[in-house]
Amino acid sequence: PVDTILAALLGYLIGSIPFGLLLTRAAGLGDVRKQGSGNIGATNVLRTGNKKLAAATLLLDLVKGLVPVLLAGALWGEVAMAFAAGAAVIGHCYPVWLGFKGGKGVATNAGVSFGLAWPIGLVYAAVWLGVLAAFRISSFAGMCAVVAAAAAAPLFGYPQFFPVLAAIAVLVIYLHRANIARLMRGEEPKVGGKK
Ligand code: G3P
Repeated sequence: PVDTILAALLGYLIGSIPFGLLLTRAAGLGDVRKQGSGNIGATNVLRTGNKKLAAATLLLDLVKGLVPVLLAGALWGEVAMAFAAGAAVIGHCYPVWLGFKGGKGVATNAGVSFGLAWPIGLVYAAVWLGVLAAFRISSFAGMCAVVAAAAAAPLFGYPQFFPVLAAIAVLVIYLHRANIARLMRGEEPKVGGKK
């Protein structure tokens, strides 16, 4: 149990680093939480017009999911990996440093998926990029990917990671409720196209 507590703390601490906010602030773009959707994720950083910063946010938010899961795996084993995974996404979505108002977990859960098992990560990336290419709607692609990762766990021989990935999927979809409402009204903005 000490392992799981340490893994959760590690995951939360690394996951809660708000890279999107830190990078946009450092670049003098103001507070990304007051622009676009108000989210601190890469999609909303892209709405500031700075593609490099959006790519950096995506990459760093992914890495902060990957690192604690790999560390927990190296130090303690699979149960700890699952705790680090869940805690990293919770840290991203509810960072204590920002009054518990963080992002929606899509990029961080990509890193988590690769950290838990690379086939799950590949499914995540394929669904995410495939749906994004087809529909150009970031939120929709992200939601499809989190569900696909949870489904992939038992299908690819990792049933032990299904509970945490399913819980993450529920959380990520819950955090997208405003996006879902916009999707149903046909008002969700597309990425890289006309607004
Ligand atoms: O990861 C967040 C993405 O799925 C949606 O972001 O800014 O369009 O709400 P946004």
